[in-house]
Amino acid sequence: MAIKFNAKSKEFHLYNKEISYIIKILDNNELGNLYYGKRIHHKESFSYLFEGGMRPLAAYVFEGDTFFSLQHTRQEYPSYGTTDFRYPAFEIKQENGSKITNFQFQSYNIFQGKKKLEQLPATYVENEKEAQTLEIILYDDLISTRLVLSYTIYEDFPIITRNAKFIYKGEDKVTLTKAMSCSIDLPDYDYEMVHLSGAWSRERHIRNKKLDHGVQSIYSLRGTSSAEHNPFIALKRPSTTEFEGEVYGFSLVYSGNFLGEVLVDTHDTSRIMLGIHPSMFEWILNKDESFQTPEVVMAYSDKGINGMSQAYHKLYRTRLARGYWRDKARPILINNWEATTFDFDEEIILNIAETASELGIELFVLDDGWFGSRNNDKAGLGDWYVNTKKFPDGIVGLSKKIENMGMKFGLWFEPEMVNKDSDLYRAHPDWIIHTPNRTASHCRNQYTLDFSRKEIVNYIYNAMSKVFREASISYVKWDMNRYMTECYSVSTIAENQGKVMHEYILGVYALYERLTSEFPHILFESCSSGGARFDPGILYYAPQGWTSDDTDAVERMKIQYGTSYVYPISCMGAHVSEVPNQQVFRITPLETRANVAYFGAFGYELDLNHLSEEERTIVKKQVKFMKENRELIQKGTFYRLISPFENKLNSWMVVSEDKSEAIVGYYKILNTANEGFKRIKLQGLDENKKYYINNNKEESFFGDELMFAGIPVRSEDFCEHGGDFTSAIYHLNEINN
Ligand code: DGJ
Repeated sequence: MAIKFNAKSKEFHLYNKEISYIIKILDNNELGNLYYGKRIHHKESFSYLFEGGMRPLAAYVFEGDTFFSLQHTRQEYPSYGTTDFRYPAFEIKQENGSKITNFQFQSYNIFQGKKKLEQLPATYVENEKEAQTLEIILYDDLISTRLVLSYTIYEDFPIITRNAKFIYKGEDKVTLTKAMSCSIDLPDYDYEMVHLSGAWSRERHIRNKKLDHGVQSIYSLRGTSSAEHNPFIALKRPSTTEFEGEVYGFSLVYSGNFLGEVLVDTHDTSRIMLGIHPSMFEWILNKDESFQTPEVVMAYSDKGINGMSQAYHKLYRTRLARGYWRDKARPILINNWEATTFDFDEEIILNIAETASELGIELFVLDDGWFGSRNNDKAGLGDWYVNTKKFPDGIVGLSKKIENMGMKFGLWFEPEMVNKDSDLYRAHPDWIIHTPNRTASHCRNQYTLDFSRKEIVNYIYNAMSKVFREASISYVKWDMNRYMTECYSVSTIAENQGKVMHEYILGVYALYERLTSEFPHILFESCSSGGARFDPGILYYAPQGWTSDDTDAVERMKIQYGTSYVYPISCMGAHVSEVPNQQVFRITPLETRANVAYFGAFGYELDLNHLSEEERTIVKKQVKFMKENRELIQKGTFYRLISPFENKLNSWMVVSEDKSEAIVGYYKILNTANEGFKRIKLQGLDENKKYYINNNKEESFFGDELMFAGIPVRSEDFCEHGGDFTSAIYHLNEINN
């Protein structure tokens, strides 16, 4: 890995074993991009990759010259209106009303390692040798504003991270009205844009569209990253498959409003930008104030989409997620939500817990409804003290009783919300996000606390940490069940209202930071009506997230498959729930429900007392299987094999780092009459190692056989004879003799 600067050609070349990224200081002292892609040899100059020339209707930078026009130049962090007419990466409104800027290259720094981003989540290094960073400093004299563009290249990942920082040095002020985290221009548009879209209960479905002239974009203006679009875009060649071909990934480490867009101009250049959505954003900078954008993580793979995903998985699992739980085997949990919703008391809860502990489950999670007057979704949010009618001995007593059963205890919170029918709202009606003299819209009867205000975050910190200190809490489910409306902060002056949505997210991060540092042994699981805030920003604080409220095994295949484009399976909360399923009323075998949930942070979400003896025996086996294999599942390399989006089948697998072991999941979504023979071609094994399958040591297979000839699928491999929704697990172990 290296970052080289050539003073003569004025070029920076960032490269490691897999990728190259080349930036040029252009003749006008702004920054151009010469190349981003597969690693190429380092040379003194790549200037031949700068293209210019006369074109009718083009505007030119230098008088008398008809060669250099920004409109036809591939740039790093472009501005608008000084010969480029495409959407810019940033906009700054100045005191005289102008938005024209001219940031000139001033200097650069290259250093080992990677700086922390102030107040924001970001990928990190544990050792300075893991990465190198280039900071390019640009300056606009007229408005006394400095722009620092940072690029970090990792040694062992095909990954570059980027962010931008604006610092105002003048005596007046400037207003940032757009500040994307990255922008890059690629020289053609022969790509498909891949993104993850959906809605409540069908989050992160894979979407693909061929790029065309014009703008294609995804976004959130919901105050959270949202179930509708994930802050991620990939550009893949039309011929790229899961295992072959080029793909560029762009993933934003942020949990609020965002915009991701690909602008293809009519000369076929693709401009990709990702960052905070400029709508609802306006940031005033007074003297010496700065604005830091979130980080974008760019991954390049020439080994197909799996290659890109594996780079994200490993980086996010080991250098984005943090803390005590990052590398620990995740406890197998039981959550009472689908079993009881709000309708429970201590006896009901202890009954479920008792059975769970008998079956080997390790953690009991008490969901919504334990506090204040929370007997339905109309009341109680904000009142984070126990309802003693339900739990006479309080959470302290309950947590002890659960621990006496040999399980850990976890608790649900929705820190950012309040019901009007609550003591908190009655005491502080002005604490909600609302616009004066306008209706405050509700969602699920609840309102958003104004987390842009420090005193409110502090109040919630005190309420939560009191519970953590008094009772024995090992896990917290941090929920967030509405999008933001009528966004306005009554404690902020008019000209700062454009800051509120970003400051809200900074408030969420600050609370997470405080609680996770003070209570490092608590495992935090994020949640937002299922997976509506499932993004890299939250993953920095909470190493697992509730993937979706949809717990149907068949629906979950698509959700988990799509989510795995970016996110490691160790962070995907995945539970076995009852049938008929509560979201889609489908009946699937208990085995299939577990066979899907194994590929995630595993747990149960049903009343185990409703199971038959035979089913309890199956659950006991499932728990044992997961305990024996969770290290491999959570830390192995995950491969998608057959897509449920394109087939009536689904298959994926996970291989241990040393390739001595693998677990394959194969799922029949719908059965077909009299169908042909099927084989699963595996991935990631050692061609020369011999493996036996499902403990049958009578027969063994070389890795190359399993990958190139494949495993013939036989009906006896399936639970329930291979009908609809049935599945099989193949467990491969290296034979040592
Ligand atoms: C939404 C979550 O996704 C559910 O799992 C559950 O915790 C409910 N909220 C509780 O209100």
